[in-house]
Amino acid sequence: MANDVPDDGTFSEKLRVPEALTFDDVLLRPKESTVEPDEADLSTRVSTNVELNVPVLSAAMDTVTESDLAIEMAREGGLGVLHRNMDVDEMVRQVERVKRADELIIRDVVTATPEQTVREVDEMMEREGVSGAPVVDEDDEVLGIISGTDIRPYLEVGESDEVREAMTDEVITAAADVTAREALELMYEYKIERVPVVDDGNRLVGLVTMQGILQRREYDNAARDDDGKLLAAVAVGPFEMDRATAADDAGADIVFIDCAHAHNRNVVEGAKEIKDAVDADVVVGNVGTREAAEDLVDFADGLKVGIGPGSICTTRVVSGAGMPQITAVAQVADVASRHDVPVIADGGIRYSGDAIKAIAAGADAVMLGSYFAGTDEAPGRVITMNGKKYKQYRGMGSVGAMQGGDDEENRYLKEAPEDDEEYVPEGVEAATPYKGSLASELYQLTGGMQSGMGYVGAATIPEFKDRSEFVRVSSAGQRESHAHDVVITDEAPNYSPDE
Ligand code: XMP
Repeated sequence: MANDVPDDGTFSEKLRVPEALTFDDVLLRPKESTVEPDEADLSTRVSTNVELNVPVLSAAMDTVTESDLAIEMAREGGLGVLHRNMDVDEMVRQVERVKRADELIIRDVVTATPEQTVREVDEMMEREGVSGAPVVDEDDEVLGIISGTDIRPYLEVGESDEVREAMTDEVITAAADVTAREALELMYEYKIERVPVVDDGNRLVGLVTMQGILQRREYDNAARDDDGKLLAAVAVGPFEMDRATAADDAGADIVFIDCAHAHNRNVVEGAKEIKDAVDADVVVGNVGTREAAEDLVDFADGLKVGIGPGSICTTRVVSGAGMPQITAVAQVADVASRHDVPVIADGGIRYSGDAIKAIAAGADAVMLGSYFAGTDEAPGRVITMNGKKYKQYRGMGSVGAMQGGDDEENRYLKEAPEDDEEYVPEGVEAATPYKGSLASELYQLTGGMQSGMGYVGAATIPEFKDRSEFVRVSSAGQRESHAHDVVITDEAPNYSPDE
């Protein structure tokens, strides 16, 4: 028995336990500052080779991240991680959708042939939702371009006229390395709205449109790869080599090894094999201890932290295991920062203040599920209960998610149950308040994070990680932190007391 402990008959070495803290246990210590919140730079590195303008990721869950939400996350500077409760072909389609959205050069071009009638082309353009089409021969060589304006006079006189009569045959084209600025200059000079992109043989390889360029300009903070395409990421099981290589081939920038307990020898080996097989960065998770980080830093491009903090997680009560999130992040970050490996804090974030606390604990970025599940872009429809609007949100270890997916590879399943056996879930199925657009939710989240940086006096995320300090909060202090002794009359966009 330790000398400093009085022997009152209750002592046990087993009960000399360290304390672990979570979000509500700590606050950021305010410091002298010259940083205005809206000037705080939120850009960060989320894995060895991938940088984001906003340090926020959406969770790989089937009620949170599919391609619609992933596209919007990347447009706003963050990253959506596509869930893996879909088959590999569907995942590939979704990765391709993200990579293609807002692409300068549209590759999937609607084309016309010179022999078609103007009526046919008119109907085709209407059907496809385009207002013009390059005219190509059977070898894809560009012969002309036709638009609604070219067609209209013909529709009145002779709608069986062929496209070759109506098209503009002096086509302004560009090469595949055209930049947005060069394309715009051509459009202004020749008063045109679309420029076919051709190879050396004048064969069509794509199309640049004015509308596309203007749309890209709207998202000047977007997270893009070196070719200007939106960043895409996917979740894969630690033994899902097929899914990992298919996502990699489809252009995913990061493959997330998605596992409830990554500090498992088989998982580590599986993750290493995937890392060796793909070009994309490989982020491994989830972990929650220093030792787990030590076993992964040698090969992982990033570590994701969170054992049971999530809003829909019941891992800790079902299994009795877990690690309060601030301590988990700090432990992993202690090791990861020495190896220059980025850390992502995953789960349990209810407010913007939690997100910036996670960064203070050592994370480079945060991942959220419930915060985004109620947005328009998340899968699922809006439901109304007692006059209030909600969207469905469920844990990936809930019965519903496990039944709806691939049993062999569920993150929370050891083995698929036989017909008459029951699941042992580690998550619940729930509803979350409907919130409107992802952009406005993200605006509140990042605005609050910038405010935290202002209070600490840090202009960048690395500086903030370095400069921030925590104070410990008592339960009285926690009560004081929330709105208290009042009846809230108007809902704030970033605070709800019963969240
Ligand atoms: P939040 O708190 O943002 O958490 O809603 C999202 C994260 O929770 C994890 N997750 C689960 N954890 N059982 C768990 O113990 C589950 O069924 C489950 N589903 C998701 C996951 O890390 C996610 O990003």
